[in-house]
Amino acid sequence: MEFKDRVAIVTGGARGIGKAIALAFAREGARVVLVDVDEEMLETLKNEIKKRKGVAIAASCDITKSAEVKAMVEKVQKAFGRVDILVNNAGIIRRGTIETITEEDWDKVIEVNLKGTFNCSKAVVETMKQQRYGKIINVSSIAGKMGDITSAPGYGPSKAGIDALTKTLARQLAQYGINVNGVAPHAIETEMSAQWSPERRKEIIASIPLGRLGKPEDVADAVLFLASDDASFITGEILDVNGGALMD
Ligand SMILES: NC(=O)c1ccc[n+]([C@@H]2O[C@H](COP(=O)([O-])OP(=O)(O)OC[C@H]3O[C@@H](n4cnc5c(N)ncnc54)[C@H](O)[C@@H]3O)[C@@H](O)[C@H]2O)c1
Repeated sequence: MEFKDRVAIVTGGARGIGKAIALAFAREGARVVLVDVDEEMLETLKNEIKKRKGVAIAASCDITKSAEVKAMVEKVQKAFGRVDILVNNAGIIRRGTIETITEEDWDKVIEVNLKGTFNCSKAVVETMKQQRYGKIINVSSIAGKMGDITSAPGYGPSKAGIDALTKTLARQLAQYGINVNGVAPHAIETEMSAQWSPERRKEIIASIPLGRLGKPEDVADAVLFLASDDASFITGEILDVNGGALMD
């Protein structure tokens, strides 16, 4: 198995895209660290992975709090002694317009999506440098490239920030054998997209050349590719997973 004994941290790993990524890594033999603020769902998924003979630990952690993130990475070190892969997947969205979004919501979206990605990346870098091996994959969005389509202003800027951070870290960490890449999904069927009205859903599907919404597993497949040694000469890339909705 490609990821046998690799240690993979997946933030926002309790549900949606993060859950699909965690299950895929576990299936491929990785030791998975499930990070989320939702402790109950973390425990459920951890048990599901164990039932399938996979290896997983749950780490309840708010990625906006650097002290909690540090403690989480220390827990991983203690359990497994290394960190090979970090998937910065946790993210939040707000709906609305520039008129309706509040300052608090703007701050919260930037804090979780962008600062959370920064906090987790910073916490694993020293270990990955020592190993001279590491893969960081950031879950961005089509909104980082196109601006907000279904969300209030804040989400797109946070994802554009993630794209720039991905390229910055890719440049700075390449010399240590660390690849940093991103995926930019669009219209994936999760709780996040479940808020669309039936009309909005139809419009979105009509705008996607492949004619369907994405599945969490579509994103997981792209993440596993970027985390694999098949992608060892790829860094600073933001891979579209959007059914053709944006071809850039
Ligand atoms: N669903 C889509 O259509 C879509 C499209 C493009 C990008 N994305 C991105 O994919 C990622 C996952 O999205 P999803 O649709 O699975 O969302 P989701 O809402 O189903 O899951 C997000 C997870 O992140 C966790 N989380 C939120 N704040 C956190 C925090 N501070 N610390 C730790 N965990 C936290 C939540 O508890 C939840 O389990 C997000 O970054 C999102 O922006 C999703």
